[in-house]
Amino acid sequence: MSELSPNAKKVIEEHIDRYPSKQAVTLPALHIVQEERGCVSNKAMKEIAEILELSPAQIHDTMSFYGFFRTEEDPLGKTRVWICRSLPCMLRGGEELLSELCERWGIQPGGTTTDGKITLELAECLGACDGAPCMLVNDELTLRVTADDVEKQVRGVQ
Ligand code: FES
Repeated sequence: MSELSPNAKKVIEEHIDRYPSKQAVTLPALHIVQEERGCVSNKAMKEIAEILELSPAQIHDTMSFYGFFRTEEDPLGKTRVWICRSLPCMLRGGEELLSELCERWGIQPGGTTTDGKITLELAECLGACDGAPCMLVNDELTLRVTADDVEKQVRGVQ
């Protein structure tokens, strides 16, 4: 049985004509699979490699270069929360915010709650320093965030 859904395969194949080479589709393909499944398994890497006519090692090299992608041993929670850890945010309460969230959720940065609902990540500057401290919930940026704001926003997307 295929690891990639028919839709994921179709979307990856549709990307091929938009890039100068099949190899250039590696990164978009990894994003497509992770978005759908919360991780990229070894089997998914092999299937991506087949579509792109590459070796599984080439897919793995790209995937492991970026800290963004998760393996099947460490999948993402349903909601991915990124707390900015760059200096302006840390000086404006980001450090306390991070500690509070770690305590509330019982996890460390990079970890996922035991119910699989939340993954807490550290982000570098999100480009909105004037609104420090900042966070992303999935792809949504929030400025001047408090731990209660985070809880409310996370519950809103679940
Ligand atoms: Fe956090 Fe720039 S330092 S957004």
